[in-house]
Amino acid sequence: MSPTPILLLLLVLFLSFFFSLIVSEQNGEFETLNTKFNPKLPLPPLKTLSSSKRYEGSSDLVKLKYHMGPVLSSPINIYLIWYGNWPKPHKSLIKDFLNSISDTTVPHPSVSDWWRTVTLYTDQTGANISKTVSIAGEYSDYRYSLGKRLTRLSIQDVIATAVRSKPFPVDHRKGIYLVLTADDVTMDEYCRAVCGFHYFTFPSKVGYTLPYAWVGNSGTQCPEVCAYPFAVPSYMAGGGPGKLSPPNGNVGVDGMVSVIAHELAELSSNPLVNAWYAGEDPTAPTEIGDLCEGLYGTGGGGGYIGEVMKDKSGKTFNVNGIRDKKFLVQWVWSNVLNACAGPNAVDLN
Ligand SMILES: *[C@@H]1O[C@H](CO)[C@@H](O)[C@H](O)[C@H]1NC(C)=O
Repeated sequence: MSPTPILLLLLVLFLSFFFSLIVSEQNGEFETLNTKFNPKLPLPPLKTLSSSKRYEGSSDLVKLKYHMGPVLSSPINIYLIWYGNWPKPHKSLIKDFLNSISDTTVPHPSVSDWWRTVTLYTDQTGANISKTVSIAGEYSDYRYSLGKRLTRLSIQDVIATAVRSKPFPVDHRKGIYLVLTADDVTMDEYCRAVCGFHYFTFPSKVGYTLPYAWVGNSGTQCPEVCAYPFAVPSYMAGGGPGKLSPPNGNVGVDGMVSVIAHELAELSSNPLVNAWYAGEDPTAPTEIGDLCEGLYGTGGGGGYIGEVMKDKSGKTFNVNGIRDKKFLVQWVWSNVLNACAGPNAVDLN
């Protein structure tokens, strides 16, 4: 056995500890529910050490458990809610990513190869998460009907507004609702601790229990937090690896794609927050995306994103999508490999 993995692990634990000290000083208290954290502002204090995120992982340290709840095993219908001013090319890029999830004709490593890891999760009846994911409807709230400062709760009003407007349906069997906010919309804890989150709506707000996710465009507010590694914090600019070139030339939107991927993986494996997660506390579950935060390729961890690809013009990516698009999406935890997994993995032996 090579000693390298152990050295790496020690390095990662050391770095996680080091960063957790910095962050606990800066951030104080914040809510951790189903949240994508920025890899560079890692995690609530204490949780960092116990959950050992952001590295290729060791099955000894990660105890992902199934808590008997449902997963999204029927073909998944995504209802998109574009909140605020969304230029058409930006929408089209995000839709290309979503429409790539089920397209198995795209050359390897593809977005659908990436989704394959997610489909390995099952519910108690043995039903796998669906391979089929499609956009079933779109709604544009271009007038910012609830203003430019949203909260975790007012996101549910955004969804309520959308489902009340025809022809946008309430699809409580197969629907998930994805609220994407424009770059001038703020959100509780956004940029400080969260880049996206998922949860489910309350019947008192929306009339139904609908799994949903929110992801914001961080392009003008905090790309170095939520669109890393396409922007890097100033404290890293000197020493570190420097920022990478986004695959489609848009820091904010390319950065959103990976956050959307993270939230979709978690929404599918833990839609009602009672299925797949690690940790004992259901109010702060560590889910299949959290476990691989900031990791995009083989060898990643402790601030290094891992081995990814570059095209001729230096744009960074790790998966292919439809219409010749390329994307950089974080890896997700595989219950079969007991490690983070992605289709661009390379054999180091
Ligand atoms: C369903 O999940 C199981 C267990 O992870 C896996 O072995 C199997 O290949 C999956 N089936 C499909 C059709 O993906």
